[in-house]
Order: sequence, then structure tokens, then C-alpha cells
Amino acid sequence: KSLPIYVYKTVDSTNNAAKKLAVEGAEHGTAVFAFHQSHGRGRLGRSFLSPANTGIYMSVLLKPSFDIRRSVLVTTAASVAVVRAIEKVCGLRPEIKWVNDIYLYGKKICGILTEAITDFESGQIQNLILGIGINCSTNEFPKDLLEIAGALEGSFSKNELAAEVLNQLLPLIEHLEDRTFLEDYRGHSLVIGKDIQVYKGGYAGTVPGRGASALGIDENGGLIVQYDSGERETLATGEISIRL
Ligand code: BTN
Repeated sequence: KSLPIYVYKTVDSTNNAAKKLAVEGAEHGTAVFAFHQSHGRGRLGRSFLSPANTGIYMSVLLKPSFDIRRSVLVTTAASVAVVRAIEKVCGLRPEIKWVNDIYLYGKKICGILTEAITDFESGQIQNLILGIGINCSTNEFPKDLLEIAGALEGSFSKNELAAEVLNQLLPLIEHLEDRTFLEDYRGHSLVIGKDIQVYKGGYAGTVPGRGASALGIDENGGLIVQYDSGERETLATGEISIRL
């Protein structure tokens, strides 16, 4: 089935553009791409630098047939879709830092931001907007960002990669409950078996971290941790860093 794809030269955020389309009745699977975002958003209130023509900035509207409590799994599936697409189109082997940051050679090259549209009256989540930003060049990045952010390398077609992300993503979402992609997620995990810091209610620098080791990923995409105190917990979502 062919699905609508909108391509904009510049938008504030493709997640906002997709939200507008959702309100206008756009169908499940509608995708929005932009060459530039003036106000790209990241998780936890951060911004996502989106200079013109240096990355793939995309959002996909999902009208879930699945239980909405599974929306963390959607983001987990999206990480796997991005990793598979990069492997296929670029021949690189990226890794996933829980929850859903994609890394290459120790630097973040892609972030994923899932936002929910809730019905004002019922408070029910109706739609999900899955936003994906992939850095394809660091040319326009300020120096301080270069310490943590990287980009894909080599020559490849951005169009092909963008299309492949969609092709990988939609079937995974259709069969979310299969959870077969979790094996791939675990296989690409940057954190399993590592010593980490867990930040609750914020991120590094804003809340104190708690030392733990990352034991594994559970069936809902949650991170199973054992704190230095010995106590175990499964985190549904959140922010961690890897202890060096
Ligand atoms: C993060 O790393 O915290 C998530 C970054 C998500 C960035 C993408 S780019 C396309 C979409 N539009 C946005 O404003 N954000 C997401």
C-alpha cells in the first residue's frame, strides 16, 4: 500500500508538522520529511540541532491498533528499524544506547522522540508521532557538540536511507506484539553488561546519578538494572550514561 509522504524545505519541527496533519485527519503511516528544522526537539526538553541538508529529519504518524501502553515498544522498534536501515544502506554497524539513541563509533548519530496526541475530553492517547533525526554530516555542528555527536560516514543516498527507515519501520509496528525485533535490539545494545549511571526524573547534570550495572532488556523494552547497593529494578524509560 502506498502512503502519503510530505516533504518540506523547512519547518519548526517535523513532529509539529505531523501533528497538524493528524488533526486534519491524515492516515496511519503518513510521513513528514524536512531538509531543515528551526526548532528540532529532543527528549527531556532538549533541542535537536537540525541544520539544512545535513540530516534526515522525519516524523511518522501512527494511529495505533496496539495497546497504547505499548508505546515504549514503538520507540524500541523504531531504533531497530533505523539500525537495520543504516546497516543495509550504509554498510555500517551502529549500536543502540537505551532507550533509543543510535551510536556509531562512540558518538550519537540519531535520536528518536515519540510524542502522543491525547484527546482533550477523554484524556485517551489517540495518535503517536514518531520523530527520527539522523545526522548525515557534522559540518555545521559547533565544536562542543562534536564531543558527543557524530554522523553517518561514507557515500550513500539520503533518499534511499529515508525510504528504507520507513520500509523497515511500518511492518515492525504492524507486528509489534511479536517482539521478534527485541533480539536485534539486544544484539546491538551498547549498554548490556556495562556499568552505568541512572538518572531519574532528568538527565546527567540536572539530577544526581545512581551507579548500577545494566543486566538486560526485558520483553517490554525496559532496562533491567542492578544498583551498586544490590537492589534490582526494571526501568520502563529514562536516561542513563555509561561509566568509563
Ligand atoms: C533526542 O535525541 O532526544 C531525540 C531527537 C529527535 C529528533 C527528531 S528530528 C525529527 C523529529 N522532529 C523533531 O523536532 N524531533 C524529532
